[in-house]
Amino acid sequence: MEKQNIDWGSLGFGYMPTSASYVSNYKNGAWDDGALTSDHTVTISECAGVLQYSQSVFEGLKAYETVQGKIVTFRPDLNAERMYNSAKRLEMPPFPKDRFVEAVKEVVKANDSWVPPYGSGATLYIRPYMFGSSAVIGVKPADEYQFRILTTPVGPYFKGGAKPITIKIADYDRAAPRGTGHIKAGLNYAMSLHAIVEAHKQGFAENLYPDSKTLTKVEETGGANIIFIKGNKFVTVKSPSILPSVTRRSLEYVAEHYLGMEVEEREIPLTELPEFDECGLCGTAAVISPVGCINDHGKEIKFPSGMEKMGPTIQKLYDTLTGIQMGRIEAPEGWICEIE
Ligand code: PLP
Ligand code: COI
Repeated sequence: MEKQNIDWGSLGFGYMPTSASYVSNYKNGAWDDGALTSDHTVTISECAGVLQYSQSVFEGLKAYETVQGKIVTFRPDLNAERMYNSAKRLEMPPFPKDRFVEAVKEVVKANDSWVPPYGSGATLYIRPYMFGSSAVIGVKPADEYQFRILTTPVGPYFKGGAKPITIKIADYDRAAPRGTGHIKAGLNYAMSLHAIVEAHKQGFAENLYPDSKTLTKVEETGGANIIFIKGNKFVTVKSPSILPSVTRRSLEYVAEHYLGMEVEEREIPLTELPEFDECGLCGTAAVISPVGCINDHGKEIKFPSGMEKMGPTIQKLYDTLTGIQMGRIEAPEGWICEIE
């Protein structure tokens, strides 16, 4: 297979159509067999559930070329599980988990020439998503749905790659205590757009949302979970209203079993922020992006790791995680899914 003629190293986090997407339709109470398509457009009713009431959920994972020249994905079973839970919360028929994993493999294989070469710094982003496609005008779930997977080659999510970023404590709420923060619903991102546009205008890379009920505890950012380092401790948030990040759960394991750290998943009061040595955002898109400073309404919380480079422990976590994903370090059982 010959790779596409792309300047992989200069890719940002953007969309370009690739060779094939995957599509399956739900009608009369059942999912059809699903197939690859080269049509990257969608035609639906003007009154579709997704257009009127935002009935949509999605996932994000990546395909990597390893040092051995294989193409792999990372823990797709966890994305299948999370999308299943997301769909149920929005009264959508979940796409079967085993079929999700098979569809990911099929679409990555069809786009193998778009998987960035090992060492290029880029990866193939995989975006499974699902939406209500039939007409609804009263507020109720649609009867028909479409599940699709698109792929697109991407570079770093934050400009500057591994350079520490500055984020701000958000002025808006992201997730209500009994709301949808724990699932990957498009609506969570629609309501974050105003906040992120404002944050960018003010010179911040992301919003850090406190818990909506008390505004006193750290939750997560608009597109990633947050992690902290305190001595030999890996500290991260426990909350029912954050997305259960696959990356964060993997890093907890890496911290404990590869780096011998103590892992704490617990409530983190905003007042504790100045006590941490290092901070980072973690997610599929973000990988681990170091945070050098958190701005709390003018008050700057600067981490000792500084604004020049990743702190030493976050660097070790980053090297180990990406080493596992790209075949340089042996992976725990079941983490790497090879595409034949
Ligand atoms: N939190 C939010 C709000 C996200 O959008 C994402 C991205 O998927 C994450 C966390 C990170 O999750 P994961 O590591 O599964 O990509
Ligand atoms: C991901 O990391 O896959 C996400 O969905 C986050 C999004 C902000 C790009």
